[in-house]
Amino acid sequence: MSMLEVQNVSKSYRLLGQKRIPVLEDVSLSVAPGEHVAVIGRSGAGKTTLLNILGGLDRPTSGDVLLDGDSLFKGFGAARRRNRIRAAKIGFVFQSFHLMPELDIVENVVLPAMTGAVKIKSPRARAKELLAKVGLADRLDHLPNELSGGEQQRVALARALMCSPRIVLADEPTGNLDRLTGAEIMKLLFEVSETPFALVMVTHSQEAAALCDRILTLDHGHIL
Ligand SMILES: Nc1ncnc2c1ncn2[C@@H]1O[C@H](COP(=O)(O)OP(=O)(O)O)[C@@H](O)[C@H]1O
Ligand SMILES: [Mg+2]
Repeated sequence: MSMLEVQNVSKSYRLLGQKRIPVLEDVSLSVAPGEHVAVIGRSGAGKTTLLNILGGLDRPTSGDVLLDGDSLFKGFGAARRRNRIRAAKIGFVFQSFHLMPELDIVENVVLPAMTGAVKIKSPRARAKELLAKVGLADRLDHLPNELSGGEQQRVALARALMCSPRIVLADEPTGNLDRLTGAEIMKLLFEVSETPFALVMVTHSQEAAALCDRILTLDHGHIL
């Protein structure tokens, strides 16, 4: 049983006055519930584009993505459905953290719960609990720029897990961190959540990839 189905996804860009540049070509893959998949490949291979399409942050030129059988891109009301699925089921972690600089870390972690897509009884209490689990209990009133890179990524991890996602999409989550700090983040990623989640993680780290159940190589828009 797969929970994530990527069906013949292609993506190309046409820059002004130029011919189409293919970025993804007929990519299909499926991910089982709780399965952890690493995506590797050289710069420009299309990894970020693929991840963004999986999360409904970008759209394919053709093809579709299904999450628990629901289409992200096709059929009536796809845009609304996509937003609801993203809010309710998907957690994101980015290489450069993407925290809101003017919000303290509790407010940052609470943010995904604000869409109302998932009912959480006391969002602030849950945010604090998650921040304690990632070791930031004594930093709750800090702003992101008052924290180190590793600490900021721990906040981002807590934020990604706020709504107990079915799937976490991580784009080089250890890419801006030193090796030891990256290893800590990976350990937390696998240990903090009380509910199991599927993971699709782009990474350049052999160590991080080795922690996954399966490694996919993307090359010039194709899965090898
Ligand atoms: N908005 C865009 N417009 C045009 N080309 C883009 C755009 N985004 C990405 N690309 C191109 O798509 C290719 C794949 O990019 P990306 O998915 O970021 O690769 P990776 O994450 O594997 O390094 C690159 O050649 C990049 O230049
Ligand atoms: Mg990338």
